Amino acid sequence: MNILFAASEAVPFIKTGGLADVIGSLPKELTRQEVNVSVILPKYGDIPAKFQDEMTHVTHFDLYLGWRKLYIGIDQLELDGVTFYFVDNESYFKRPGLYGYDDDAERFGFFCKGVIEALPHLNLQPDVIHCHDWQAGMIPVLLKAHYQHLPFFSGIKTMMTIHNLRYQGVFSQDLFRDYFGLSDDHFYGTALELHGGASFLKGGLLYSDWITTVSQSYAEEIQMPYYGENLDSLLRHRQHQLTGIVNGIDYDVFDPNTDPHLTVNYRDSLAKKQQNKLALQERLGLPVNGDVPMIALVTRLVQQKGLDLIQHVLREMLLLDIQLVVLGTGDHVYEQMFRDAAEQYPAKVSAQIYFNEALAHQFYAASDLFLMPSQFEPCGIGQLIALRYRSAPIVRETGGLRDTVQPYNEFTGEGTGFSFTNYNAHDMLHSIRRAVFFYKNDRDSWQQIQSNMTKCDFSWRKSAQQYIGLYKEISS
Ligand code: GLC
Repeated sequence: MNILFAASEAVPFIKTGGLADVIGSLPKELTRQEVNVSVILPKYGDIPAKFQDEMTHVTHFDLYLGWRKLYIGIDQLELDGVTFYFVDNESYFKRPGLYGYDDDAERFGFFCKGVIEALPHLNLQPDVIHCHDWQAGMIPVLLKAHYQHLPFFSGIKTMMTIHNLRYQGVFSQDLFRDYFGLSDDHFYGTALELHGGASFLKGGLLYSDWITTVSQSYAEEIQMPYYGENLDSLLRHRQHQLTGIVNGIDYDVFDPNTDPHLTVNYRDSLAKKQQNKLALQERLGLPVNGDVPMIALVTRLVQQKGLDLIQHVLREMLLLDIQLVVLGTGDHVYEQMFRDAAEQYPAKVSAQIYFNEALAHQFYAASDLFLMPSQFEPCGIGQLIALRYRSAPIVRETGGLRDTVQPYNEFTGEGTGFSFTNYNAHDMLHSIRRAVFFYKNDRDSWQQIQSNMTKCDFSWRKSAQQYIGLYKEISS
């Protein structure tokens, strides 16, 4: 079976969010399970030189986007048994950053069309093109509208995966007419029209052969208006071709037993894990004390991640005997909130307002609790890493958080973390208090939670099998 992933970011080449982690790790596992996977990405100027130097040029040709005749080059690089292709056009992609330019419709329109037209040049006839998020959303549309009458393309199926329904790639309909030569039927009634413009993502959701998203709960939530971002009725309509498959994480990269970033590697020993806490406290200038529960927050500091809940009860939280360690960047008000808190409570709060991969690993290893109170969360990766490093997650029961963290039940001894249902700051605070209580006053329960966490398996193995099942179903 041949699968082509089309996406806008992938670890280790370029990353702004969790999408990059998925595109960087799922193909590797699919390859292990005997699927032939390649990945195609834009060739951004920000891809580190060491990778750019390793790329080899495969082919180039002219691509027409409306009246524009454009150069398109395809470069290639192998990594862990996966072939990565890079779509090259310097005027579109050799700029700082990935998104947010005025001509994003043109840039990613070029990418989508380029992916399709590259196939004969690469002699690549995938069974399924697996498209991720809005940047790849026009691939299913263009394939059906303009290519599938040709024998080379007629057997190719498409799958559209939603990593976050909020980002929809909405642009003026005139641009879609100009770039893609779509007729008016593509815009009216139930077609690409969205918010008065037209949407790349909606196109992908309408025209793909199958839709997936990154957890079972999110697959259900997005069929309701609260989470549906104005696409819930379309998703209800396609509910029989909509599957939730939870993300995994790369168990080779995230392994406390071998992680090169940790002070002390550990598997089962809580004492060894605690060495990492002492080392981090020292490094961050916090009181060095193994007994104080350390709560970590490693995230983009934006409202989606529940930062407004934390803002509401931060002072009450800091009355507890805890240390709160924060790593990440985001909205100015939240960055400043943690800087202020660190200044006022230097023994309790450390605010590291930047991002650093090595330090993130140390936060997971050092902390006892991992806070992730998202308003919505398609899957979430932080809580999966936290479970692997045995930092018990405190989460809101939404999307992938609900599916991956089992709330601790002191009567049955089951559970791997703590959770709350309503998007309410004091409900969150109650969960934090409960977690701190078990940590400090009920060591048996704490041991039990620790041992439950070690039994979790969020490697890609099972989820990759589910994708393979779907690829087979749609391509048969
Ligand atoms: C997006 C979602 C996140 C998910 C990730 C990878 O970043 O917000 O929940 O884990 O995509 O699928």
